[in-house]
Amino acid sequence: MDLPVKQKKRRAGTERVRLLFCPAASIILLMFQKTWLEVRFLVPAGMQEEASLFLTEFSGRGVILEEDQAGGVLVRAYFRPEEFGPWQQSQLQEYLKRLGSYGLFPLGLEIRQAAEEDWAEAWKRHFKPLKVTSRLVIRPPWEDYRPGPHEVVIVIHPGMAFGTGRHPTTVLCLKALEEVMAQEALPAGSGPWQVLDVGTGTGILALAAARLGAKVLAIDVDPEAVAAALENVRLNALEDVIWVEDTPLMKLRQQFPLILANLTALDIKQYAEALAGRLTLGGVLIVSGFLSEDEPALLDRFASMGLKEAGRYTQEDWVALVLRRP
Ligand SMILES: C[S@@+](CC[C@H](N)C(=O)[O-])C[C@H]1O[C@@H](n2cnc3c(N)ncnc32)[C@H](O)[C@@H]1O
Repeated sequence: MDLPVKQKKRRAGTERVRLLFCPAASIILLMFQKTWLEVRFLVPAGMQEEASLFLTEFSGRGVILEEDQAGGVLVRAYFRPEEFGPWQQSQLQEYLKRLGSYGLFPLGLEIRQAAEEDWAEAWKRHFKPLKVTSRLVIRPPWEDYRPGPHEVVIVIHPGMAFGTGRHPTTVLCLKALEEVMAQEALPAGSGPWQVLDVGTGTGILALAAARLGAKVLAIDVDPEAVAAALENVRLNALEDVIWVEDTPLMKLRQQFPLILANLTALDIKQYAEALAGRLTLGGVLIVSGFLSEDEPALLDRFASMGLKEAGRYTQEDWVALVLRRP
């Protein structure tokens, strides 16, 4: 579904927060910030992906989804008071109106003040350890998890960027990554890193690849994603094997035997040549973030660069492809 919703990120009043945004500073800020604004709306279950993606981007944080007894899904996002004013409210109302025009009928917007404790509690109640593939388990920093014999655990702070492990596009990438890394040992790249994670978000794919034995370069254009990924790398004590930076893909010269890119269909199309160009001979590219309707065009685009389909993963309408440079 093509929802023509254009998103601008946080507006006036956020610079102070953004300037101070680094993991340590954000924790200090949270300690002094006593209230949050909780924004929530109820949507039909079939719309939860779209609505949660929208709110994740709009708030710059992960969102909470809760099934409602009547069969809908309650989507909740949190804003600091200075981040949410009339502009943000009108954008949300506009968004809900547009959904209505697609016949999706969300059931209204509610905004309420939430105390710091409510916010923390909501996160803690919602984010529990989650097994996402046959081996990988994601846990938030406040939950313990004792891994089984073949399980690999990654710690992700869910509030910081896209990539909590709950979205199908991430899960598909993780499944493909786990299988690709189980099938063959990764050779060295043309530089120090074996895996490139393009659009790392919270760093989830990079962390999984590192836990499975790879040395990873993770890049993102969003400075807050870079800060979040750095913090998660630290939480997992993987600083020696993951390097996070904001270098644009176009500027990289190294080639990698494995590239992970969970972006949008548009971005993948746009960066197809750059992605293919960063692959070593015999290298594998895992792309995710698009719907089945986008698949033929993307396959054609990569085929024109000599990449062949080597695997396909699906969940609902989402598809991830494993492509190999022969
Ligand atoms: C859908 S999220 C994926 C996050 C995480 N890798 C996952 O799989 O859950 C896409 C991320 O790509 C980043 N991004 C978008 N365009 C990019 C580009 N051209 N280069 C690097 N990162 C990009 C966004 O800032 C965002 O953090």
